[in-house]
Amino acid sequence: MATATPVASPLTGPRRTEAELRPPCTLVIFGASGDLTRRLLAPAIAHLNRDGAISPDFAIVGIGRTEYTDEEFRAHLEGGAREFTPPTQGRPGEMPDVCSYIAGDFGDPSLYSRLGEWLQACETRRGGARNRIFYFATPPDADETIVRHVGESGLARVGDGWVRAVVEKPFGHDLASCRQLNETMLAVFREKQIYRIDHYLGKETVQNIFVLRFANGIFEPMWNHRYVDHVQISVAESVGVGHRAGFYEHAGVVRDMFQNHLMQLLTLTAMEPPAAFEADAIRAEKVKVLQSVRPFPTDAIDDWAVRGQYGPGVVGGKRVPGYREEPGVDPQSNTPTYAAIRFAIDNWRWAGVPFYLRSGKRLEKRVSEIAIEFKGVPHKFFSKASGDLLPNVLRLHIQPDEGVSLKFSVKIPGPTLQVQSVYMDFPYSKLGAPIAGGYERLLLDVTHGDQTLFIRGDEAEHAWEVLMPLIGAWESVRTADFPNYAAGTWGPEAADKFLERESRRWRTL
Ligand code: BG6
Repeated sequence: MATATPVASPLTGPRRTEAELRPPCTLVIFGASGDLTRRLLAPAIAHLNRDGAISPDFAIVGIGRTEYTDEEFRAHLEGGAREFTPPTQGRPGEMPDVCSYIAGDFGDPSLYSRLGEWLQACETRRGGARNRIFYFATPPDADETIVRHVGESGLARVGDGWVRAVVEKPFGHDLASCRQLNETMLAVFREKQIYRIDHYLGKETVQNIFVLRFANGIFEPMWNHRYVDHVQISVAESVGVGHRAGFYEHAGVVRDMFQNHLMQLLTLTAMEPPAAFEADAIRAEKVKVLQSVRPFPTDAIDDWAVRGQYGPGVVGGKRVPGYREEPGVDPQSNTPTYAAIRFAIDNWRWAGVPFYLRSGKRLEKRVSEIAIEFKGVPHKFFSKASGDLLPNVLRLHIQPDEGVSLKFSVKIPGPTLQVQSVYMDFPYSKLGAPIAGGYERLLLDVTHGDQTLFIRGDEAEHAWEVLMPLIGAWESVRTADFPNYAAGTWGPEAADKFLERESRRWRTL
């Protein structure tokens, strides 16, 4: 194994002691035989282990319904790490030395006694450190059962060590089930122990929103209704629903992408500077943004949002089926795979500034960005003949070409006065370091006990509260026009018209 490099949260500064930096601990993964564990967790663990960022005494125990021996489980994870490590990340490492598996039914109490015995033995072997991470890579209904059993079996009470619980999205299916899940979790863990994961918060460029806003003097004075005309947040995907129809049919784009990722991007862009750079202060500011979002009027939802569903088309030169033809999807499905929504934030900073958010599957390409479009100059000094005076735009490119760029106008060299828009670009790739997947960052923060990049319970509830009227309105009225965009395009025409009505246009991605 490589020598340890001090890896601490980039946001909260370096940790000092080895025990703080690389605490010996056990990662208990519920849902260990599932896709999420293999695709996202396994590569992250393999990279952290390769880079010496986790303790040599970091142990894994996977829990799932599939029967695996310890060796098969290790091969399952290492296979996942190889398959899902992008070439830019180098060769993944191996799994930690202790990597075991316990098969069982989540509702069976004996599973938890077996786990308890395993933990006891493992912790005794490594000299007693009773630090446990319970990772729920399971659907919300299973989470409830497991949390209850973890509580009843006493596995969450360790005396001198620490216990943390990591919960994957979706955080419930709606506001009521999110509240219920929070309640169940809080009956066993304290909020300080709960890490609700949104992998967007682990993305470098998303963390850079904090730095760009709060480490530079020039942007913050303009970051408000006086200078900003509107904000566009786009998360476009070229992939379709794949094999996830079972989940997606009941979720749709608003639950799958807006409740978490897009609302997080919105709150980070719109929040006030926190009182301190510390998890609760930051999360309190994000909650305030959600509390300031104007409720959607359910009787006039079309003035606020457009929904879409993809039909067959061509993506990346390949013919692909429409959503309704995907395996497991109802041929009459009313599930939206695209949404464009206008949010009004009723506070002093953002009064009158629309935030347009859009996300969809099977769009032309995979690209995500936040664009702050500034107001035009108050007096147009240059004649139309000088060229189009386009507004300044600050773009935060989240993926795939991570970076920041600023659009402004310049004179084209020459005898006549010709004005043109140019971009000042900062590509992240210039800094040399490869961009790690979000899971490494987030998993490491869990071992450090740093909740800055995780969603607090009330935050998840407020995000649902904002979106429930829209979800309810869309679910109660079927659309006659689905599918209304061809795969490989930029979404329904209605979304373009939606912005045109407000004399604006979607940015070209
Ligand atoms: C997940 C959604 O949370 O995020 C998926 O469930 C989506 O439907 C994915 O494809 C997008 O993540 P990324 O990192 O590829 O933008």
